[in-house]
Amino acid sequence: MAFTGSRPAPTHVLAHLSDTHLIAGGGLLGGHIDTEAQLRKALARVESSGERVDALVISGDLADSGDPAAYELLRAIVDPVVTRLGCALVLTGGNHDERRPMARTLHGVDTDAPQDTVTDCDGLRILAIDSAVPGYHHGGFSDDQYDWLAAELATPARHGTILVIHHAPITYRSPVMQLLDFDDVDRLRDVVEGSDVRAVLSGHLHVTSFGTLGPVPVIVAGGVSYVDDVGAPRELLMGVDGPQSWNLVEVHADQVVATVVPIEQHETWPALSEAVTEFMETVPEADRREVFSRKRT
Ligand SMILES: [Fe+2]
Ligand SMILES: [Fe+2]
Repeated sequence: MAFTGSRPAPTHVLAHLSDTHLIAGGGLLGGHIDTEAQLRKALARVESSGERVDALVISGDLADSGDPAAYELLRAIVDPVVTRLGCALVLTGGNHDERRPMARTLHGVDTDAPQDTVTDCDGLRILAIDSAVPGYHHGGFSDDQYDWLAAELATPARHGTILVIHHAPITYRSPVMQLLDFDDVDRLRDVVEGSDVRAVLSGHLHVTSFGTLGPVPVIVAGGVSYVDDVGAPRELLMGVDGPQSWNLVEVHADQVVATVVPIEQHETWPALSEAVTEFMETVPEADRREVFSRKRT
């Protein structure tokens, strides 16, 4: 008898990474960050987690400056991981990306048009929409993208929909980042309202954050490359080399749960001894809460 959870397992598990800001050729981001090493460390943590990952999601700012070599590097790093995990790969662009080199390398098409994608993960629909506004760092959708989104959402998916949008449609504390946020949250909320969208996965803020778009949770992954120093006064924008992270997003029949996974592997020790785990395996499931939860003192 295995000591499994007392709740049903999630129907789908997503590894949500963001803001890799990849630089090819060994350059350091801001003179501080080895972005290639950061992505490799993040993916190693995804693989070592032992989770059954259905989709690996990277929500934009894939490259730091739209360099074609950075997208080649992304493929070289990510593709073997996706093969080993046997999962889907969902990518979308951010304001640091450039659409043509990204489309060429990641989607095999030579165009400046946004590569918005639909991924069916065994009944869970993942819509990834490029929120970069060409020539700018703030975000938004074109009329065509709003129409595409509305048309997709017109038909519900069996397990609902996850939207992946680089620019988080929430109000972040930084006045500078507010100048670079998603430009028409009201319109996006109107499109999403009444649909089967269960969560929005975003990045751009370089910090783990949570908000809402109407009734829909917005979950922001904290950034693989660097993090915004949230302990600094809000008018400053200070990058920090840590604590980078990704989000383990578990989709259940009745809820979506996100857990922050730090990329850095710190020292660990068994908070629960193996003997306790082995003992719990011998306890009938119906008795486990009483046996494990009751205070002994
Ligand atoms: Fe970014
Ligand atoms: Fe961004």
